[in-house]
Amino acid sequence: MTTLSASAATPTSVPADALVVGVGQGPDGPVVAGGAESLDADLGGRLGAVLADLAVTGKEGEVTRFPTLGATPAALAVAVGLGRVPADGAPYDPESLRRAAGSAVRALAGVRRAVLTLPLANVGARQPEPAPDDLRAVTEGALLGSYGFTRYRTRDPGKDPVAAVVLAVDDAGQRAAKAVLARAEAVASAVALVRDLVNTPPGDLHPVELAAAAVEAGARLGVQVDVLDEKALRKAGYGGILGVGQGSANPPRLIRMAYLPGRAGTTVALVGKGITFDSGGLSLKPAAAMEWMKMDMGGAAAVIGATTAAAALRLPINVIGYAPTAENLPGGSAIRPADVLTMYGGTKVEVLNTDAEGRLVLADALVRAGEDTPDYLVDVATLTGAQLVALGSRVAGVMGDDTMRDRVVAASQRAGEAMWPMPLPPELRASLDSDVADLKNIGDRNGGMLTAGLFLKEFVPAGVPWAHIDIAGPAFNLGDAYGYTPKGGTGAAVRTLVQLLEDLAAG
Ligand code: BES
Ligand code: ZN
Ligand code: ZN
Repeated sequence: MTTLSASAATPTSVPADALVVGVGQGPDGPVVAGGAESLDADLGGRLGAVLADLAVTGKEGEVTRFPTLGATPAALAVAVGLGRVPADGAPYDPESLRRAAGSAVRALAGVRRAVLTLPLANVGARQPEPAPDDLRAVTEGALLGSYGFTRYRTRDPGKDPVAAVVLAVDDAGQRAAKAVLARAEAVASAVALVRDLVNTPPGDLHPVELAAAAVEAGARLGVQVDVLDEKALRKAGYGGILGVGQGSANPPRLIRMAYLPGRAGTTVALVGKGITFDSGGLSLKPAAAMEWMKMDMGGAAAVIGATTAAAALRLPINVIGYAPTAENLPGGSAIRPADVLTMYGGTKVEVLNTDAEGRLVLADALVRAGEDTPDYLVDVATLTGAQLVALGSRVAGVMGDDTMRDRVVAASQRAGEAMWPMPLPPELRASLDSDVADLKNIGDRNGGMLTAGLFLKEFVPAGVPWAHIDIAGPAFNLGDAYGYTPKGGTGAAVRTLVQLLEDLAAG
């Protein structure tokens, strides 16, 4: 991974191959942001003129590089767009800085050492005490933007990520930076783990391999990891996980990760959907819809990532992460539409559509999580296509009890992840009534994300504050890379979960 450091030295005096400055989009043209003063001085006060000649606009995601021809030690100067300059001298919001840092570092792949100057806390003038959220955003953006997935390229592995990023801060910033850098490194390495797991081809990441990855990630940090195999699942009656997995030759697992820093205190249970490939089962998906269904374990990966990040950061809160994992294939022993499964805890579910499998594995794990008597319960899942219809591909839907849902949304805002509160309308619940069993696994198609949430709610332990995050769209970027988000696996929900754990730990 890219190494990150902070320096209070004049940016142009830090040895580097590239010097990055921020440019905002002002009402009358581009506005060079704070931090670029020493570069401008080395260029004889002509930075603004150079940028104008290069037609730099400052719009978000724009990266413009130009040679400095000996005017300053770094051979390359780079202008990165910050988007619209905030009105009335307000600071740039942290997410703009996070994205700009990501765009710059991503574009500079192949460069060894880059100095990053971005306006911390204010436009045009660096404040003596940069807001930690700004620092946080820039450090995260830089690390997240350096991600690449090249394991499966043998011909042209592409350019190496920037080896070292030096963050230009002032003295006060440097004091604050230590903890911020350590946090960013823990969060970014959790996000990178999630992206790797999501990007790995489904033939190389079955439930067994996902469990092995959890064991490995946990072992490094002293997190206790227990894995139930198909025999243990059968013995204990995990009918949802087993039912979904029975059409595949690759057996299902239930992963449990426990980070327990103290006996007393708050306990949070996290549950993530871990379908290593979702063909739809006998309710087969069309070919094009299947192309990206290796991402259907993005929720499980996020839970594994967040639990390990909590341990790496030594957060003072108990975290128990569950990842029910199975492969949803239409093999000869697959569940059929109209089969009835007995879930963990005894509830009987009529499976009318085998493609609504996520809720079945989650139901088992939610009931199991209740046995830990957690104070809070959050599940994350690439659960419904309806999430994409409702909120688009980049905004996750959050459901649950009003208070818990709003806490998750608040955490997402601080973390810089797009999530939006959604209701669980009670009138939709009746559509889950089955003619033969306690429930059926599909309900009203209109509001499909909400019906799925209502299904899960049936399995939430009584009295436990609960939220459900549907990341069907956000977990995987089908489009081009932007900001700090690469193509493919994005690591969605990890930063929000870590922020939520920090919030809950703080009381
Ligand atoms: N894994 C899918 C949801 C999904 C769709 C994730 C698109 C990412 C992108 C899930 O298992 C599924 O297929 N859900 C069905 C439910 C329906 C049958 C009630 C869906 O959304 O179509
Ligand atoms: Zn499905
Ligand atoms: Zn699925």
